[in-house]
Amino acid sequence: MRGSKNAVTKHMVAAMLGDGPSVIRNAPQVGDVDITAAMLESAGFHVGLEDSEITIAPGSEVRTRVPEAFTGLNRIPILMLGPLLHLTGEAFVPLVGGDPIGRRPVDFHAEALTALGAEIAYGPTGITAKASRLHGARITLPYPSVGATETVLLSAVLAEGKTVLRNAATEPEVVELALFLQRMGAHIELSPDRRIVIEGVPRLRGASTRLAGDRLEAFSYLVAGLITGGEVRVHGCPQDRLVTAITTLARMGTRFDITDEWITASAPDGLQPAAVHTDTHPGFMTDWQQPLMVLFTRANGMSVLHETVFENRLVYVPALQKMGCEIEVFPNCLGGPACRFHDGNALHSAVIRGVSKLRGAEVELPDVRAGFSAVLAAAVADGPSALHGVHHIERGYHRPFDQFASLGLRLAHGSA
Ligand code: EPU
Repeated sequence: MRGSKNAVTKHMVAAMLGDGPSVIRNAPQVGDVDITAAMLESAGFHVGLEDSEITIAPGSEVRTRVPEAFTGLNRIPILMLGPLLHLTGEAFVPLVGGDPIGRRPVDFHAEALTALGAEIAYGPTGITAKASRLHGARITLPYPSVGATETVLLSAVLAEGKTVLRNAATEPEVVELALFLQRMGAHIELSPDRRIVIEGVPRLRGASTRLAGDRLEAFSYLVAGLITGGEVRVHGCPQDRLVTAITTLARMGTRFDITDEWITASAPDGLQPAAVHTDTHPGFMTDWQQPLMVLFTRANGMSVLHETVFENRLVYVPALQKMGCEIEVFPNCLGGPACRFHDGNALHSAVIRGVSKLRGAEVELPDVRAGFSAVLAAAVADGPSALHGVHHIERGYHRPFDQFASLGLRLAHGSA
Protein backbone atom coordinates (compact mmCIF):
# COMPACT_ATOMS: atom_id res chain seq x y z
CA MET A 1 0.00 0.00 0.00
CA ARG A 2 1.20 3.47 -0.81
CA GLY A 3 0.58 6.36 1.61
CA SER A 4 -2.84 7.97 1.72
CA LYS A 5 -4.05 10.94 -0.27
CA ASN A 6 -5.24 12.47 2.99
CA ALA A 7 -1.73 12.36 4.47
CA VAL A 8 0.49 13.07 1.48
CA THR A 9 -1.13 16.36 0.49
CA LYS A 10 -0.90 17.71 4.05
CA HIS A 11 2.77 16.72 4.24
CA MET A 12 3.32 18.67 1.02
CA VAL A 13 1.79 21.76 2.63
CA ALA A 14 3.90 21.23 5.78
CA ALA A 15 7.04 21.14 3.61
CA MET A 16 6.32 24.81 2.72
CA LEU A 17 7.37 25.68 6.28
CA GLY A 18 10.89 24.21 6.06
CA ASP A 19 13.89 26.37 5.17
CA GLY A 20 15.38 23.47 3.19
CA PRO A 21 14.10 20.63 0.99
CA SER A 22 11.76 17.94 2.31
CA VAL A 23 11.28 14.43 0.94
CA ILE A 24 8.06 12.38 1.19
CA ARG A 25 8.47 8.68 0.36
CA ASN A 26 5.92 5.99 -0.42
CA ALA A 27 3.68 8.70 -1.88
CA PRO A 28 0.69 7.53 -3.91
CA GLN A 29 0.21 8.52 -7.54
CA VAL A 30 -3.15 10.19 -7.15
CA GLY A 31 -4.78 13.19 -8.77
CA ASP A 32 -4.74 15.14 -5.52
CA VAL A 33 -0.93 15.04 -5.43
CA ASP A 34 -0.74 16.58 -8.92
CA ILE A 35 -3.23 19.30 -7.94
CA THR A 36 -1.34 20.08 -4.72
CA ALA A 37 2.02 20.06 -6.53
CA ALA A 38 0.68 22.58 -9.05
CA MET A 39 -0.61 24.81 -6.22
CA LEU A 40 2.77 24.74 -4.45
CA GLU A 41 4.56 25.53 -7.70
CA SER A 42 2.26 28.46 -8.32
CA ALA A 43 3.18 29.70 -4.83
CA GLY A 44 6.87 29.59 -5.83
CA PHE A 45 8.06 26.18 -4.54
CA HIS A 46 10.06 23.58 -6.45
CA VAL A 47 8.25 20.25 -6.53
CA GLY A 48 9.78 17.04 -7.84
CA LEU A 49 7.46 14.07 -8.42
CA GLU A 50 9.19 10.79 -9.09
CA ASP A 51 7.18 7.58 -8.83
CA SER A 52 6.78 7.23 -5.04
CA GLU A 53 8.98 10.12 -3.95
CA ILE A 54 8.07 13.79 -3.69
CA THR A 55 10.68 16.48 -3.08
CA ILE A 56 9.66 20.00 -2.12
CA ALA A 57 12.13 22.84 -1.86
CA PRO A 58 11.71 26.54 -1.25
CA GLY A 59 12.05 28.77 -4.33
CA SER A 60 13.54 32.25 -4.50
CA GLU A 61 10.25 34.03 -3.90
CA VAL A 62 6.93 33.04 -2.30
CA ARG A 63 3.78 34.19 -4.08
CA THR A 64 0.91 34.93 -1.74
CA ARG A 65 -1.99 34.06 -4.04
CA VAL A 66 -3.10 30.56 -4.90
CA PRO A 67 -4.65 31.18 -8.34
CA GLU A 68 -8.41 30.94 -8.79
CA ALA A 69 -7.82 28.25 -11.41
CA PHE A 70 -7.58 25.87 -8.42
CA THR A 71 -11.09 26.73 -7.21
CA GLY A 72 -13.06 23.73 -6.06
CA LEU A 73 -10.50 21.07 -6.98
CA ASN A 74 -9.76 19.77 -3.49
CA ARG A 75 -9.65 20.74 0.21
CA ILE A 76 -5.98 21.72 0.34
CA PRO A 77 -6.00 25.52 -0.36
CA ILE A 78 -7.50 26.33 3.05
CA LEU A 79 -4.58 24.48 4.71
CA MET A 80 -2.10 26.69 2.86
CA LEU A 81 -3.34 29.86 4.59
CA GLY A 82 -1.25 29.39 7.76
CA PRO A 83 2.03 28.57 5.96
CA LEU A 84 1.55 31.45 3.47
CA LEU A 85 0.88 33.86 6.36
CA HIS A 86 4.14 32.83 8.04
CA LEU A 87 6.07 33.24 4.83
CA THR A 88 4.62 36.50 3.55
CA GLY A 89 2.16 38.00 6.07
CA GLU A 90 -0.76 37.71 3.66
CA ALA A 91 -2.50 35.08 1.60
CA PHE A 92 -5.35 34.49 -0.79
CA VAL A 93 -6.74 31.02 -1.38
CA PRO A 94 -9.60 30.12 -3.71
CA LEU A 95 -12.78 28.41 -2.54
CA VAL A 96 -12.11 24.82 -1.57
CA GLY A 97 -13.83 21.83 -3.13
CA GLY A 98 -13.59 18.14 -2.44
CA ASP A 99 -16.37 15.65 -2.58
CA PRO A 100 -19.99 16.92 -2.48
CA ILE A 101 -20.77 15.06 0.74
CA GLY A 102 -22.17 17.75 3.00
CA ARG A 103 -21.98 21.49 3.45
CA ARG A 104 -18.25 21.19 4.14
CA PRO A 105 -17.86 24.69 5.54
CA VAL A 106 -14.47 26.10 6.59
CA ASP A 107 -15.69 28.11 9.57
CA PHE A 108 -13.57 26.12 12.09
CA HIS A 109 -10.46 26.88 10.04
CA ALA A 110 -11.27 30.59 9.80
CA GLU A 111 -12.11 30.87 13.52
CA ALA A 112 -8.89 29.10 14.51
CA LEU A 113 -6.80 31.36 12.28
CA THR A 114 -8.57 34.41 13.72
CA ALA A 115 -7.76 33.19 17.25
CA LEU A 116 -4.11 32.85 16.15
CA GLY A 117 -4.15 36.52 15.13
CA ALA A 118 -5.06 36.47 11.44
CA GLU A 119 -7.49 38.89 9.84
CA ILE A 120 -9.78 36.82 7.65
CA ALA A 121 -12.02 38.18 4.89
CA TYR A 122 -14.37 36.12 2.74
CA GLY A 123 -14.62 37.24 -0.89
CA PRO A 124 -16.77 35.92 -3.75
CA THR A 125 -13.90 33.80 -5.10
CA GLY A 126 -11.95 32.90 -1.99
CA ILE A 127 -10.50 33.84 1.37
CA THR A 128 -7.94 36.55 2.10
CA ALA A 129 -5.88 36.47 5.29
CA LYS A 130 -3.42 38.93 6.80
CA ALA A 131 -1.17 38.73 9.85
CA SER A 132 2.16 40.35 10.57
CA ARG A 133 2.88 37.49 13.01
CA LEU A 134 0.65 34.66 14.26
CA HIS A 135 0.61 34.13 18.01
CA GLY A 136 -0.35 31.17 20.19
CA ALA A 137 -3.96 30.82 21.33
CA ARG A 138 -6.38 28.59 23.20
CA ILE A 139 -8.72 27.02 20.68
CA THR A 140 -11.56 24.54 21.16
CA LEU A 141 -13.01 22.98 18.03
CA PRO A 142 -16.82 22.54 18.00
CA TYR A 143 -16.23 19.08 16.44
CA PRO A 144 -12.94 17.15 16.09
CA SER A 145 -12.40 18.21 12.48
CA VAL A 146 -9.46 16.63 10.66
CA GLY A 147 -8.84 19.64 8.43
CA ALA A 148 -9.24 22.27 11.16
CA THR A 149 -6.83 20.36 13.42
CA GLU A 150 -4.36 20.35 10.54
CA THR A 151 -4.86 24.08 9.99
CA VAL A 152 -4.01 24.69 13.65
CA LEU A 153 -0.93 22.42 13.49
CA LEU A 154 0.34 24.04 10.29
CA SER A 155 -0.24 27.55 11.67
CA ALA A 156 0.75 27.22 15.34
CA VAL A 157 4.14 25.52 14.83
CA LEU A 158 5.75 28.82 13.78
CA ALA A 159 3.50 31.12 15.81
CA GLU A 160 4.84 33.12 18.73
CA GLY A 161 4.10 31.32 22.01
CA LYS A 162 1.95 28.38 23.02
CA THR A 163 -1.23 27.07 21.40
CA VAL A 164 -3.54 24.69 23.19
CA LEU A 165 -6.00 22.96 20.89
CA ARG A 166 -8.89 21.09 22.48
CA ASN A 167 -11.29 18.63 20.88
CA ALA A 168 -8.67 17.95 18.20
CA ALA A 169 -8.95 15.17 15.61
CA THR A 170 -6.76 12.14 16.36
CA GLU A 171 -6.97 10.39 12.98
CA PRO A 172 -3.74 8.54 12.10
CA GLU A 173 -3.19 10.93 9.17
CA VAL A 174 -3.29 13.89 11.60
CA VAL A 175 -0.79 12.22 13.92
CA GLU A 176 1.39 11.39 10.92
CA LEU A 177 1.42 15.10 10.01
CA ALA A 178 2.30 16.05 13.60
CA LEU A 179 5.22 13.59 13.52
CA PHE A 180 6.49 15.07 10.26
CA LEU A 181 6.31 18.59 11.73
CA GLN A 182 8.21 17.31 14.77
CA ARG A 183 10.95 16.04 12.43
CA MET A 184 11.04 19.53 10.93
CA GLY A 185 11.77 20.89 14.43
CA ALA A 186 8.27 21.69 15.72
CA HIS A 187 7.44 21.35 19.42
CA ILE A 188 4.20 19.41 19.54
CA GLU A 189 2.71 17.52 22.47
CA LEU A 190 -0.11 15.06 21.85
CA SER A 191 -2.00 14.90 25.14
CA PRO A 192 -4.84 12.61 26.11
CA ASP A 193 -8.44 13.79 25.75
CA ARG A 194 -8.04 15.25 22.27
CA ARG A 195 -5.66 18.00 23.41
CA ILE A 196 -2.67 19.13 21.37
CA VAL A 197 -0.15 21.60 22.77
CA ILE A 198 2.11 23.40 20.32
CA GLU A 199 4.99 25.59 21.40
CA GLY A 200 5.89 27.91 18.51
CA VAL A 201 9.51 27.86 17.28
CA PRO A 202 11.23 30.54 15.17
CA ARG A 203 12.11 28.29 12.24
CA LEU A 204 11.64 24.81 10.83
CA ARG A 205 13.98 22.77 8.64
CA GLY A 206 13.21 20.38 5.81
CA ALA A 207 12.68 16.74 6.79
CA SER A 208 12.08 13.40 5.18
CA THR A 209 9.57 10.69 5.94
CA ARG A 210 8.00 7.51 4.60
CA LEU A 211 4.21 7.46 4.63
CA ALA A 212 2.38 4.48 6.15
CA GLY A 213 -0.01 2.49 3.93
CA ASP A 214 -3.45 3.97 3.26
CA ARG A 215 -6.10 2.50 5.57
CA LEU A 216 -8.90 3.52 3.20
CA GLU A 217 -7.39 1.70 0.26
CA ALA A 218 -6.56 -1.30 2.42
CA PHE A 219 -10.16 -1.57 3.58
CA SER A 220 -11.53 -0.99 0.06
CA TYR A 221 -9.50 -3.83 -1.44
CA LEU A 222 -10.16 -6.24 1.44
CA VAL A 223 -13.87 -5.62 0.91
CA ALA A 224 -13.47 -6.02 -2.86
CA GLY A 225 -12.28 -9.58 -2.18
CA LEU A 226 -15.14 -10.32 0.22
CA ILE A 227 -17.79 -8.97 -2.16
CA THR A 228 -16.65 -11.21 -4.96
CA GLY A 229 -16.37 -14.25 -2.69
CA GLY A 230 -12.59 -14.25 -2.95
CA GLU A 231 -9.61 -13.67 -0.75
CA VAL A 232 -7.50 -10.54 -0.90
CA ARG A 233 -4.18 -9.88 0.82
CA VAL A 234 -3.12 -6.28 1.36
CA HIS A 235 0.49 -5.49 2.15
CA GLY A 236 1.93 -2.56 4.02
CA CYS A 237 -0.99 -1.08 5.97
CA PRO A 238 -0.40 -1.19 9.73
CA GLN A 239 -2.99 -3.26 11.60
CA ASP A 240 -3.45 -0.55 14.23
CA ARG A 241 -4.99 1.70 11.57
CA LEU A 242 -7.66 -0.89 10.84
CA VAL A 243 -8.69 -2.10 14.30
CA THR A 244 -12.36 -1.10 14.07
CA ALA A 245 -12.61 -2.13 10.42
CA ILE A 246 -11.20 -5.59 11.13
CA THR A 247 -13.49 -6.13 14.12
CA THR A 248 -16.54 -4.97 12.15
CA LEU A 249 -15.78 -7.35 9.27
CA ALA A 250 -14.88 -10.18 11.67
CA ARG A 251 -18.28 -9.81 13.41
CA MET A 252 -19.87 -10.23 9.98
CA GLY A 253 -18.10 -13.55 9.57
CA THR A 254 -14.85 -12.57 7.86
CA ARG A 255 -11.79 -14.70 8.59
CA PHE A 256 -8.54 -12.78 8.94
CA ASP A 257 -4.96 -13.85 8.71
CA ILE A 258 -2.75 -11.03 9.98
CA THR A 259 1.05 -10.74 10.04
CA ASP A 260 3.40 -7.77 10.44
CA GLU A 261 3.56 -7.47 6.64
CA TRP A 262 0.07 -8.19 5.38
CA ILE A 263 -3.60 -8.77 6.17
CA THR A 264 -5.70 -11.38 4.37
CA ALA A 265 -9.49 -11.52 4.50
CA SER A 266 -12.00 -14.08 3.24
CA ALA A 267 -15.52 -15.21 4.14
CA PRO A 268 -15.88 -18.80 2.99
CA ASP A 269 -18.98 -19.36 5.18
CA GLY A 270 -20.90 -16.28 4.02
CA LEU A 271 -21.56 -12.96 5.72
CA GLN A 272 -23.91 -11.88 8.50
CA PRO A 273 -25.58 -8.46 8.55
CA ALA A 274 -24.48 -5.74 10.99
CA ALA A 275 -25.39 -2.32 12.41
CA VAL A 276 -22.56 0.15 11.99
CA HIS A 277 -22.25 3.86 12.71
CA THR A 278 -19.41 5.96 11.37
CA ASP A 279 -17.42 8.12 13.75
CA THR A 280 -14.19 9.99 14.32
CA HIS A 281 -11.07 7.92 15.03
CA PRO A 282 -10.85 5.30 16.47
CA GLY A 283 -14.44 4.66 15.36
CA PHE A 284 -15.55 3.23 12.03
CA MET A 285 -14.39 5.87 9.58
CA THR A 286 -16.74 7.64 7.21
CA ASP A 287 -14.60 6.73 4.20
CA TRP A 288 -15.07 3.03 4.88
CA GLN A 289 -18.86 3.06 4.68
CA GLN A 290 -19.22 3.11 0.88
CA PRO A 291 -17.53 -0.25 0.22
CA LEU A 292 -19.26 -1.60 3.36
CA MET A 293 -22.62 -0.56 1.92
CA VAL A 294 -22.06 -2.82 -1.10
CA LEU A 295 -20.80 -5.60 1.17
CA PHE A 296 -24.04 -5.34 3.17
CA THR A 297 -25.95 -6.27 0.01
CA ARG A 298 -24.00 -9.58 0.07
CA ALA A 299 -24.86 -10.38 3.73
CA ASN A 300 -27.70 -12.68 4.73
CA GLY A 301 -30.26 -10.24 6.19
CA MET A 302 -30.89 -6.59 7.03
CA SER A 303 -28.02 -4.27 7.92
CA VAL A 304 -28.04 -0.69 9.18
CA LEU A 305 -25.59 2.09 8.44
CA HIS A 306 -25.64 5.40 10.32
CA GLU A 307 -23.38 8.15 8.93
CA THR A 308 -22.50 10.67 11.66
CA VAL A 309 -19.56 12.60 10.18
CA PHE A 310 -20.89 14.13 6.93
CA GLU A 311 -24.61 14.78 6.66
CA ASN A 312 -24.88 14.12 2.90
CA ARG A 313 -22.47 11.27 2.57
CA LEU A 314 -25.18 8.89 1.36
CA VAL A 315 -25.80 10.88 -1.84
CA TYR A 316 -24.33 8.04 -3.84
CA VAL A 317 -27.04 5.57 -2.77
CA PRO A 318 -29.26 6.22 -5.85
CA ALA A 319 -26.41 4.98 -8.07
CA LEU A 320 -26.27 1.73 -6.10
CA GLN A 321 -30.09 1.45 -6.11
CA LYS A 322 -29.99 1.72 -9.89
CA MET A 323 -27.71 -1.31 -9.85
CA GLY A 324 -30.25 -3.30 -7.83
CA CYS A 325 -28.96 -2.68 -4.29
CA GLU A 326 -31.94 -2.76 -1.92
CA ILE A 327 -31.16 0.27 0.23
CA GLU A 328 -33.57 2.67 1.92
CA VAL A 329 -32.37 5.93 3.42
CA PHE A 330 -33.80 7.81 6.40
CA PRO A 331 -33.28 11.18 8.13
CA ASN A 332 -33.44 9.43 11.54
CA CYS A 333 -30.46 8.22 13.52
CA LEU A 334 -30.68 4.45 13.08
CA GLY A 335 -27.98 2.25 14.57
CA GLY A 336 -25.76 3.75 17.26
CA PRO A 337 -26.44 6.86 19.35
CA ALA A 338 -28.22 10.00 18.06
CA CYS A 339 -25.80 12.22 16.17
CA ARG A 340 -25.46 15.95 15.30
CA PHE A 341 -27.84 15.49 12.37
CA HIS A 342 -30.82 14.13 14.34
CA ASP A 343 -32.90 17.33 14.08
CA GLY A 344 -32.29 17.89 10.37
CA ASN A 345 -33.65 16.40 7.19
CA ALA A 346 -30.39 14.96 5.86
CA LEU A 347 -30.81 11.35 4.78
CA HIS A 348 -27.93 9.94 6.80
CA SER A 349 -29.09 6.47 7.86
CA ALA A 350 -29.63 3.47 5.61
CA VAL A 351 -31.24 0.05 5.90
CA ILE A 352 -29.78 -2.46 3.49
CA ARG A 353 -31.31 -5.78 2.51
CA GLY A 354 -29.09 -8.69 1.61
CA VAL A 355 -28.64 -10.72 -0.42
CA SER A 356 -29.64 -8.42 -3.31
CA LYS A 357 -29.32 -9.48 -6.91
CA LEU A 358 -27.33 -6.71 -8.58
CA ARG A 359 -27.64 -5.76 -12.22
CA GLY A 360 -25.37 -3.73 -14.48
CA ALA A 361 -26.42 -0.13 -15.07
CA GLU A 362 -25.19 3.20 -16.38
CA VAL A 363 -24.34 5.42 -13.42
CA GLU A 364 -22.54 8.65 -12.59
CA LEU A 365 -19.88 8.40 -9.87
CA PRO A 366 -20.35 11.37 -7.53
CA ASP A 367 -17.13 11.20 -5.49
CA VAL A 368 -13.98 9.23 -4.85
CA ARG A 369 -15.16 6.70 -2.24
CA ALA A 370 -18.64 6.32 -3.75
CA GLY A 371 -16.98 5.80 -7.11
CA PHE A 372 -15.06 2.85 -5.73
CA SER A 373 -18.23 1.32 -4.29
CA ALA A 374 -19.96 1.56 -7.68
CA VAL A 375 -17.06 -0.39 -9.21
CA LEU A 376 -17.52 -3.04 -6.52
CA ALA A 377 -21.25 -3.26 -7.24
CA ALA A 378 -20.53 -3.49 -10.96
CA ALA A 379 -18.08 -6.32 -10.28
CA VAL A 380 -20.81 -8.58 -8.88
CA ALA A 381 -23.70 -7.33 -11.05
CA ASP A 382 -25.25 -9.37 -13.83
CA GLY A 383 -24.37 -7.71 -17.11
CA PRO A 384 -22.02 -4.86 -17.90
CA SER A 385 -22.10 -1.44 -16.21
CA ALA A 386 -21.09 1.93 -17.64
CA LEU A 387 -19.56 4.14 -14.95
CA HIS A 388 -19.09 7.83 -15.66
CA GLY A 389 -16.73 10.01 -13.65
CA VAL A 390 -13.97 7.48 -12.95
CA HIS A 391 -11.55 10.40 -12.58
CA HIS A 392 -12.97 10.75 -9.05
CA ILE A 393 -11.45 7.37 -8.18
CA GLU A 394 -8.10 8.36 -9.64
CA ARG A 395 -8.06 11.47 -7.46
CA GLY A 396 -7.77 9.34 -4.35
CA TYR A 397 -6.69 5.76 -5.14
CA HIS A 398 -3.19 4.83 -6.26
CA ARG A 399 -3.36 3.47 -9.84
CA PRO A 400 -6.78 1.87 -9.30
CA PHE A 401 -7.04 0.29 -12.73
CA ASP A 402 -3.80 -1.66 -12.23
CA GLN A 403 -5.06 -2.81 -8.82
CA PHE A 404 -8.46 -3.83 -10.21
CA ALA A 405 -6.71 -5.76 -12.98
CA SER A 406 -4.53 -7.58 -10.44
CA LEU A 407 -7.75 -8.59 -8.66
CA GLY A 408 -9.07 -10.00 -11.91
CA LEU A 409 -11.62 -7.25 -12.55
CA ARG A 410 -11.90 -6.22 -16.17
CA LEU A 411 -12.53 -2.52 -16.77
CA ALA A 412 -12.43 -1.00 -20.20
CA HIS A 413 -11.92 2.75 -20.65
CA GLY A 414 -14.74 4.15 -22.79
CA SER A 415 -14.62 7.34 -24.75
CA ALA A 416 -17.83 8.92 -23.50
N1 EPU B 1 -16.73 20.94 9.65
C1 EPU B 1 -17.34 22.16 9.85
N2 EPU B 1 -16.58 23.29 9.72
C2 EPU B 1 -15.25 23.26 9.37
C3 EPU B 1 -14.65 21.99 9.16
C4 EPU B 1 -15.41 20.85 9.30
O1 EPU B 1 -18.53 22.23 10.17
O2 EPU B 1 -14.63 24.31 9.26
C5 EPU B 1 -17.54 19.70 9.78
C6 EPU B 1 -17.75 19.01 8.42
O3 EPU B 1 -18.79 19.59 7.70
C7 EPU B 1 -18.00 17.57 8.84
C8 EPU B 1 -17.12 17.42 10.09
O4 EPU B 1 -16.83 18.74 10.54
O5 EPU B 1 -19.34 17.41 9.20
C9 EPU B 1 -15.82 16.67 9.86
O6 EPU B 1 -15.09 17.26 8.81
P1 EPU B 1 -13.50 17.22 8.76
O7 EPU B 1 -13.00 18.62 8.82
O8 EPU B 1 -13.00 16.26 9.78
O9 EPU B 1 -13.23 16.65 7.32
P2 EPU B 1 -12.19 17.16 6.25
O10 EPU B 1 -10.92 17.55 6.91
O11 EPU B 1 -12.84 18.12 5.33
C10 EPU B 1 -11.01 14.86 5.88
C11 EPU B 1 -10.77 13.98 4.69
C12 EPU B 1 -12.05 13.25 4.33
C13 EPU B 1 -12.51 12.43 5.53
C14 EPU B 1 -12.69 13.36 6.73
C15 EPU B 1 -13.09 12.62 7.99
C16 EPU B 1 -9.05 15.17 3.52
C17 EPU B 1 -8.65 15.95 2.33
N3 EPU B 1 -10.32 14.79 3.58
O12 EPU B 1 -11.96 15.83 5.44
O13 EPU B 1 -11.74 12.36 3.27
O14 EPU B 1 -13.71 11.79 5.22
O15 EPU B 1 -11.48 14.08 6.98
O16 EPU B 1 -12.12 11.68 8.35
O17 EPU B 1 -8.23 14.86 4.37
C18 EPU B 1 -11.97 11.30 1.19
O18 EPU B 1 -10.80 11.01 1.26
O19 EPU B 1 -12.74 10.84 0.33
C19 EPU B 1 -12.52 12.25 2.15
C20 EPU B 1 -13.67 12.89 1.95
